[in-house]
Amino acid sequence: MSASIDLAAFPRDFVWGTATAAYQIEGAAAEDGRSPSIWDTFSHTPGKTENGDHGDEACDHYHRWPEDIALMRRLGTGAYRMSTAWPRVLPAGDGPVNAPGLDFYDRLVDGLLEAGLTPNITLYHWDLPQALQDRGGWTVRDTAEHLAAYASVVATRLGDRVTRWATLNEPLCSGWIGHLEGRMAPGLTDLTAAVRASYHLLLGHGLAAQAVRAAVPGADIGLVTNHSTVDAASSRPQDLAAATRADGHTNRWWLDPVYGRGFPADMRELYGVELPERDGDLDTIATPLDWHGLNYYFPVTVADDPEGPVPYAREVALPGVERTGMDWQIDAGGLEALLMRLTDDYGVRRLYVTENGSSFPDTVGPDGAVHDPERTRYLEQHLAACARAVRKGAPLAGYYAWSLLDNFEWAYGYDKRFGLVHVDYATQERTVKTSGHRYADIIRAHRALHA
Ligand code: FCB
Repeated sequence: MSASIDLAAFPRDFVWGTATAAYQIEGAAAEDGRSPSIWDTFSHTPGKTENGDHGDEACDHYHRWPEDIALMRRLGTGAYRMSTAWPRVLPAGDGPVNAPGLDFYDRLVDGLLEAGLTPNITLYHWDLPQALQDRGGWTVRDTAEHLAAYASVVATRLGDRVTRWATLNEPLCSGWIGHLEGRMAPGLTDLTAAVRASYHLLLGHGLAAQAVRAAVPGADIGLVTNHSTVDAASSRPQDLAAATRADGHTNRWWLDPVYGRGFPADMRELYGVELPERDGDLDTIATPLDWHGLNYYFPVTVADDPEGPVPYAREVALPGVERTGMDWQIDAGGLEALLMRLTDDYGVRRLYVTENGSSFPDTVGPDGAVHDPERTRYLEQHLAACARAVRKGAPLAGYYAWSLLDNFEWAYGYDKRFGLVHVDYATQERTVKTSGHRYADIIRAHRALHA
C-alpha cells in the first residue's frame, strides 16, 4: 500500500490532522450571545455568495461536535486544526467576554483531548466582529490591538490544555481578496484600504503572538499563510517581470516582513500607498515564531497585464492540465517547491501543511458510499510531494487535510465540497468518503512503520 508515498520519510511523531474553520462549520450564528461577523453581513448581502448561501446553520457543528470528534477518531487522525470565533467570545469585538461562547470552546477542547486529539487553534479565520468593521475593521490600527486582546482572552482560558496556536489564517485573503478584489468580506475594492489592512493584519499577528506567549508559558506559536508558486507564461521580459510582481503580491509581501526583511521595496513602490508605520512595528511583525503553517492549493502562471488591476499580472490557464472543481490547477510539485522555499529561503525551522485539499462535485451513490477518486489522487500526490520535501531537508512536522467536512466554502457557498467526509445539508448526515478511508489507511500505514 501507499506505493507512491514514501511514508518512511515522515518522522515517527509526524502529525496527521484535518482542518476546519469556525464560520464554515459551526452554524448557530445567533446562539448563546454570538454577534454577527463580517461574513454574516457579507453572506446575507444579495449577490455576494453562490445561491445566497450563508453560515447560519452550516454543518451545525456547534451542536454536533461530539459526532464530529467521533469522525476524527474513525479517520485515525491525531490532531485537529480549528478556529475560535471572535464574535462568539467578544461579541463587541472588544469589551466584555461572552461566557457561553468561551464555554463552547472549553467543552470542545476537552472533548478533543479525551478522544486523544491535539487541538491546533487558529484565532482569526476571517470572522471579524461586524462591530469592529463598523469602526474601520482592518484598515485601522485599533483592530490589530483588539486582536491581541481577544487572543489573550482565549489563550488564558484554554492555554492550560492547548499548546499549539496560530494567530491568523491566510492574511492574503483578508487583505487582498477582502479589500482589493471584493470577493470576500468585507467586500471592498480599494487599494489603499487593502494595503493598510495588510499592514494591520501582520501587525495584529505579531501583537497576538506576543499576547499568547505572555498568557501561555511554553505556547507553540505560528502563522498560517497561503501561497502559490508563480511561473511566467513565457520568457518575454514583460512576462518575467509580471511573475516577479505576482510573486511579490502573493508570497513576498506576506513572508518578508514576518521573517525580518521588512515589506518588499518593489511592491511598496508598485502599490504607491504609504504604510501606517510606527517605530517598532517591524520588530513586532517579525516576532520570532515556533512554526509556520503553509496552506497550498494550486500554482499560478501569469502574463504581463499593464491595463489590468494590481499587480498587473493576468493569470493564464495552461491547456491540458488537470483541474479541480474550483478550476484550480493541480500540481503537487508546487507544494514541494513552497516547502523548500520556506525552508531554504526563509529559514523556517518547523513547518506544517495546515491546509491542502480539493473540491469535486461528490454524490452519495446508490450503495450509500461517496466515491471520490480525484480527491483521493490529489491527496496521495500531495502527500508524496511532502515526503519528497522532507527527504530534501524540509522540517515538515505535520499535515492537516482540508477539510474534515464539506462546509460553507465562503463566496462559493455549499456547492463546493472539500471534505473527507460528505455532509448532506438537508439531514446533516455525515458519510466518510473514499478519500477519508484512504487517509485513514495512510495514517495507519505510517504508524505501523514505527510500531
Ligand atoms: C482556504 C481557506 C479555507 C478554505 C480553503 C478551500 O483559502 O483558508 O477556509 O476555504 O481555502
